[in-house]
Amino acid sequence: MKILAIESSCDETAVAIIGDKAGQPVVLSNVVSSQIAIHQKYGGVVPEVAAREHVLNIIPVINEALKLAGISLPTVKNEFPLLTKKKRGRFDIDAIAVTTGPGLITSLIVGVETAKALAYAWQLPLIPVNHIEGHIYSAFLKKQNNFQFSISNFQKNPKNQSQIEKIKFPAIVLTVSGGHNLLVLMKKHLNYKTIGETRDDAAGEAFDKGAKLLGLSYPGGPAIAAAASQIGNLGNASRQIKFPRPMIHDNNFDFSFSGLKTSLLYTLPKDKQWAKRIPEYAYEYQKAIVDVLVTKTIKAAKFHQAKTIILAGGVAANLSLRQILNEAITKNLPDTNFALPELRYTTDNAAMIGSAGYFKFKAGKTVPLSKVKADPNWEL
Ligand code: KG4
Ligand code: ZN
Repeated sequence: MKILAIESSCDETAVAIIGDKAGQPVVLSNVVSSQIAIHQKYGGVVPEVAAREHVLNIIPVINEALKLAGISLPTVKNEFPLLTKKKRGRFDIDAIAVTTGPGLITSLIVGVETAKALAYAWQLPLIPVNHIEGHIYSAFLKKQNNFQFSISNFQKNPKNQSQIEKIKFPAIVLTVSGGHNLLVLMKKHLNYKTIGETRDDAAGEAFDKGAKLLGLSYPGGPAIAAAASQIGNLGNASRQIKFPRPMIHDNNFDFSFSGLKTSLLYTLPKDKQWAKRIPEYAYEYQKAIVDVLVTKTIKAAKFHQAKTIILAGGVAANLSLRQILNEAITKNLPDTNFALPELRYTTDNAAMIGSAGYFKFKAGKTVPLSKVKADPNWEL
């Protein structure tokens, strides 16, 4: 089985081909055309600019993904190569998966309409995928041979390595990016119950806004993580800088991060030397975010007796979060497995959309072309 997956919900134009290996989705190709450099000068994604870039990128990215997966298109003189398939019989793709929401409407439309055009031309079934569902399913992609755990702790501890391969239900998923911040209970495949969410900013948004206040680059998560790692190497952070842990002890699984950003906003002007202490501020700010995310996830996993904890979303690229959550699970829930995606599948990509598409296709969840629409507010 092969699935062509398209993701264009924000500022990455991404296409992947997903195959099947022993009943698990495996990445055959994964192409991401990032617009980060374009949006960096504005300090965030400009929707109109993103949509125009998607239009320019989508066809070359599809062609590249097909080529890397070794799938050649029939070419007919004077015809647009991508649309000649119907005449030439089947080639090696069984279905098309596409992110239909949530996201920026102008960005989503490019991927959705392209997917519909290809599904029509190639007479293939179409599978709409929720972007958040895609992030969750990044953890279900079969690990490749060249997979490297990026945390030394995992390399030293083979028990964790084998745990990662096993996702048993019920699972508690912490999925966190710039646009969403959810705790999800999964009792089985493709079954989601949101048990906690942010009441204001998502953690990724907190990273991005915090970075802006500290004069660091966009996207803020990697910039804050890089600055904070300078302190990590020194082994000790500032005792004077303290940030709140909003809602950490509340009796629910919700989050709130806007107060943290406000706290940074008011703290910096009081410190005339702050520009010289950016790593300390970054370290403490990151620690506050990670503390809240880890504490709430452990609490939710205990409450729902989770057999697996899954970490996903762009913020799952944060090494400190990966490591501290791993330690907390080992300490508090030694019988609970920990599953997390390879680093390259944490931020937006189409492999994760193809992974969700793979399970949806197997479950018969295809949707007639005429019913497939971009929905910028689609809730999981
Ligand atoms: O999933 P994603 O690529 O896009 C959305 O769906 O929003 O996530 C992007 C978010 C941004 O907020 C970015 O700052 C954050 O993920 N991020 C990180 C790291 N890498 C990306 N946050 C913390 N640490 C990182 N290493
Ligand atoms: Zn995302």
